[in-house]
Amino acid sequence: DDIPKKKQKKIASSEIQLPFVEKYRPKRLEDLVAHDDIISILTKFIDNDSLPHLLFYGPPGTGKTSTIVAAAKRMYGGSAAYSSMALELNASDARGIDTVRNQIKEFAGTRQLFNKGIKLIILDEADAMTNDAQFALRRIIEKYTKNARFCLICNYVSKIIPALQSRCTRFRFSPLSRDQIRDRLCDVARQEDCNISEGGIEAILSLSGGDMRRVLNLLQSTAMSFETIDETSVYLTSGAPLPSDIDTITNSLFNDDFVKAYENLITMCSTKGYAMADILTDLTTIVTTMKLPSGVLADLLDGMSNIEYRLAYGTDEKIQGASLVGVFIKARHLIQVA
Ligand SMILES: Nc1ncnc2c1ncn2[C@@H]1O[C@H](COP(=O)(O)OP(=O)(O)OP(=O)(O)O)[C@@H](O)[C@H]1O
Ligand SMILES: [Mg+2]
Repeated sequence: DDIPKKKQKKIASSEIQLPFVEKYRPKRLEDLVAHDDIISILTKFIDNDSLPHLLFYGPPGTGKTSTIVAAAKRMYGGSAAYSSMALELNASDARGIDTVRNQIKEFAGTRQLFNKGIKLIILDEADAMTNDAQFALRRIIEKYTKNARFCLICNYVSKIIPALQSRCTRFRFSPLSRDQIRDRLCDVARQEDCNISEGGIEAILSLSGGDMRRVLNLLQSTAMSFETIDETSVYLTSGAPLPSDIDTITNSLFNDDFVKAYENLITMCSTKGYAMADILTDLTTIVTTMKLPSGVLADLLDGMSNIEYRLAYGTDEKIQGASLVGVFIKARHLIQVA
């Protein structure tokens, strides 16, 4: 009981800490940091009561689910209205033909005595729906257009049958730009009192690939295991190879003899716990920007992609590592001949 008041409060609040991705999920449409055009069109649709059926698609962590949830809040206001007027179905729910028929029919078919307006049916991860279910949905969408709107969300639009696509207005969610991520990341870091350096921000940006969920998860897990969030701690947390280590490996592959280069590579992998596949990915980025003679580069990339393919089949990392060194030695030979 000697703990000062202030400290007590801090402990209590940290006990129920939510994952950052939920804690900082945008609550209103205005809070989303990207896709201004999509947000403004949606806002107009909602404010004019002219919402069409929607199809959101794009890579993970770009705000598709957040956008539709925020849109639904704008449409229905309070949470009580939201729960009676919006139905969310996920891929984790059974999504055979019967679910689609029964659940949606039941929801869309019942009239609301007190709530006016149209209902919203959100089918998240719609690309996991079976083709039969998608065909069934075609008819259901038409039948209930009078009192319900559908929002289909998926990563791969090609997995949605064309007949469904043509019934919806499509919106593509592109990966977030570095600036958009940076602003949001700095905001969250400030609110969470994180001690983050410029190097840490850059590292998170590089590793995110435009996925805001990844950004927040990386920030949170780094903050949990390190005092300061800098380049090293971010890379250590993510398990991705440090850029300086990749430089060392690249140097060795282009300059040392076979045995030395192989030893360096294997030592690096075992002491730092890097996966060969991650190293290959980073090496690819580096060699493609190195202005090598195009014949040499083609050969090098062909060799590396073969190794990547074999690694994906669970082959021995050491043997593939040796093969990687071999590919580079061959490339060096080609450069000398050229
Ligand atoms: N445009 C954005 N503005 C602000 N935060 C965002 C944005 N996009 C994503 N986020 C953050 O990332 C998290 C994940 O976003 P969301 O669940 O909307 O992604 P998604 O596009 O539905 O991804 P998935 O395809 O994997 O379902 C959110 O909780 C939110 O914190
Ligand atoms: Mg989602």
